[in-house]
Amino acid sequence: MARWLILICLLVCIVEARRHRSNVYNVRNYHPIADGKNDDTKAMGIAFVNNSNINGISSINSQNAHITMYMCENITLTQLTITAPGHSPNTDGIKMARSQGIYINNVHIATGDDCVAMITGTKNVNISNVYCGPGHGISVGSFGSNTDEFDIQDIHVKNCTFKDTSNALRIKTWASPLNHPLKASNIVYEDIIVIDVEHPINIDQEYCPSGNCGNKVPSGVKISNVRYRNIRGTCKGDVAVNFQCSESNPCQDISLENIDLKRSTNSRQKLTNHCSNVKGAFSGPQFPPACI
Ligand SMILES: *[C@@H]1O[C@H](CO)[C@@H](O)[C@H](O)[C@H]1NC(C)=O
Ligand SMILES: *[C@@H]1O[C@H](CO)[C@@H](O)[C@H](O)[C@H]1NC(C)=O
Ligand SMILES: *[C@@H]1O[C@H](CO)[C@@H](O)[C@H](O)[C@H]1NC(C)=O
Ligand SMILES: *[C@@H]1O[C@H](CO)[C@@H](O)[C@H](O)[C@H]1NC(C)=O
Repeated sequence: MARWLILICLLVCIVEARRHRSNVYNVRNYHPIADGKNDDTKAMGIAFVNNSNINGISSINSQNAHITMYMCENITLTQLTITAPGHSPNTDGIKMARSQGIYINNVHIATGDDCVAMITGTKNVNISNVYCGPGHGISVGSFGSNTDEFDIQDIHVKNCTFKDTSNALRIKTWASPLNHPLKASNIVYEDIIVIDVEHPINIDQEYCPSGNCGNKVPSGVKISNVRYRNIRGTCKGDVAVNFQCSESNPCQDISLENIDLKRSTNSRQKLTNHCSNVKGAFSGPQFPPACI
């Protein structure tokens, strides 16, 4: 009897292994309602996992986020391809919360939402060699909507390319009061190329996507020590660098170094920068001229 059981298990294992041999995880095979709102199925979610690697996987057309991490520590994500149509809602590429020690390298993401989203309690994340587009860029937040949230800190984004995305380097916090103070700090972006991106550099502390934030008040999130270094490329919008910081918690220690952003097309409209409630410094060439 036991021998039969072992044999059957072995057969099941072989069939399973064959099925997954191609390393392509197509969520459509699991019959989701693929409209981005009817259910919240993630393609691949890991929670309470430490010291693990995710390597060499393709994820196609997730129902919601492609890969999520919650309460994870020391995870590497390498050589991944993540694909969903540019118009598909809520299909974040990699999304993480309350996680730390995350290393993302050599990942190609085309999606309808954030390529990478780092929300509540994300710490010590290194992202390099990511190609993002289409999509909404690499985002810190959204954050600070007055639920129980934790600080975000020590994020390093290096050598990434953004093409045809709405944003590239975005920090977004809700225009909402908080019952305890929150911080987003120690964030470095360097060696970044943008191609035909709407908003390349964006701190939006008046984030209120559905326009329904009740009494819109200044964001309670304090953003500090953010460094932008060697950012170049082309911009589809009118504003290259947009710092729209909180009136009650101005952004602090924001630094711009070697910024070279031009218009995608020969429009007569000038490309400008916008600064409100931001303190910091710049060095090296600045196109358009820094407003910090
Ligand atoms: C992961 O590491 C954290 C911090 O050391 C620990 O508290 C947690 O129990 C670990 N989780 C697992 C599933 O081992
Ligand atoms: C994660 O890696 C750091 C640095 O190597 C180490 O100190 C820490 O103990 C690791 N965490 C876990 C849960 O093993
Ligand atoms: C990120 O890079 C910093 C500086 O090089 C390093 O100290 C840290 O351990 C790295 N963390 C991860 C998760 O790769
Ligand atoms: C930077 O990214 C590009 C494209 O993703 C890659 O070809 C190149 O090797 C990367 N450079 C470094 C120094 O990692």
